[in-house]
Amino acid sequence: MKTIPEPYRIKTIEPIKLLSRGQREKKIREAKFNLFRLRSEDVYIDLLTDSGTSALSDNQWAGLLQGDEAYAGSRNYYHFVDTIKEITGFKHVIPVHQGRAAENLLFTTLLKKGDIVPSNTHFDTTRANIERQGAIALDFITEAGKSFDSDYPFKGNMDLEELRRLVKKYGKKRIPAGTMTVTNNSGGGQPASMENIKSASRILHRHGIKLLFDACRYAENAYFIKKRESGYARRSVKSIAREMFSYADGCTVSAKKDGLSNIGGFIALNDDKLATEISDLLILLEGFPTYGGLAGRDLEAIARGLREGLEEDYLDFRVNQVAYLGRLLEKVGLAVMNPTGGHAAYVEAGSYLPHIPRKQFPAQALTVALYREGGIRSCEFGGAVYTHVDRRSGKVKSAPMDLVRLAIPRRVYTRSHLDYVAEVFRKVEKKRNEVRGLRTIYEPPKLRIFTVEFEEI
Ligand code: F0G
Repeated sequence: MKTIPEPYRIKTIEPIKLLSRGQREKKIREAKFNLFRLRSEDVYIDLLTDSGTSALSDNQWAGLLQGDEAYAGSRNYYHFVDTIKEITGFKHVIPVHQGRAAENLLFTTLLKKGDIVPSNTHFDTTRANIERQGAIALDFITEAGKSFDSDYPFKGNMDLEELRRLVKKYGKKRIPAGTMTVTNNSGGGQPASMENIKSASRILHRHGIKLLFDACRYAENAYFIKKRESGYARRSVKSIAREMFSYADGCTVSAKKDGLSNIGGFIALNDDKLATEISDLLILLEGFPTYGGLAGRDLEAIARGLREGLEEDYLDFRVNQVAYLGRLLEKVGLAVMNPTGGHAAYVEAGSYLPHIPRKQFPAQALTVALYREGGIRSCEFGGAVYTHVDRRSGKVKSAPMDLVRLAIPRRVYTRSHLDYVAEVFRKVEKKRNEVRGLRTIYEPPKLRIFTVEFEEI
């Protein structure tokens, strides 16, 4: 069959409304041209993020009613732990309220000033949590991974030569751990291959350095391995995921992605001493170790969501839905990151709006145009997010590309929603020369995208 329909049917609906053009104009101005500052009720199709925006299944809703809200030893905690141990094989599981809390606990415990943490690409909250410890976060992405057009199937791979050089130079004393973001969100939702994971693991382990995953989208990564890497076609996604985790020493996970949940996350790892230290800090920052900042019902929704996130008919549909959006946008004439990633289509705004110089944030300007034209909320992954001062050189580093990410919430939108998105792009296309650049009027020092304010030039 050529069509891959949703492997579910709709039981509950949530109405959405498109504001009038005049209202949209007012709202985007009030939001200072930063779409994070819009009210969700003023958005028609919300592709801001795939994080925490999934629709729960009837099975998860049923699980919510079975929440055991005891302060200590909730039965949902044990279900949560058993599920994560079964999927990852790690010895210790620590619940947290979301991914960045996991990063904070892990890096506060693991890092000291001056340490170095190499990665394929650190997500921005991960980078910020590392830098907060006075440590250095380095991105080692391969040439293919940096290329927008390359059709290399594993553009999330780590550059192993760079990793080898760094590890040889600084060793375990300066590098307590390396991380791999799977899939690589900041690099376009691209997967890392099993071979690359295995090699990175070998290089780090040879020097006694840990490999940790930022495994928010591990199921999508495992699915890509099944489809693209030789030797995996007949294996279940679940067993591929288990093999991926077998090369690592632990992971941080935001369950708001492949955990198909609206909140939550965890750290899973093997090191007894590190687990104890993190659990002690958890009590101070998040809560007692059997709930870690979550309600019992949330733990249950995550345990069930993690299993559903590994179902192959679901993953088939999901990855194809993203590819479908990518193809539609290509037809409109946009440069779409090739191949499309697991959770989002990324389009390049710099070449699309050549009249807007990079310092006037062409990608952010495109997100504004999409909202104006059709109430679509998307997310800038360019200068507005990534401009930062490099700790090693002290120089201002700009983003490698000016991208707009159209992230697809899991199990939420249908094909006609995506057709509508493409139609809005077609309308923007007709007046793209009128799209105006932006200048910042307020910038926070870190994680600027969430609160930065702009005015139009
Ligand atoms: N790591 C990756 C790769 C992520 O994509 C995110 C969140 C986090 C860590 C942090 O998790 O939000 O639960 O604290 N990404 C969201 C996004 C915000 O839109 O891509 P969190």
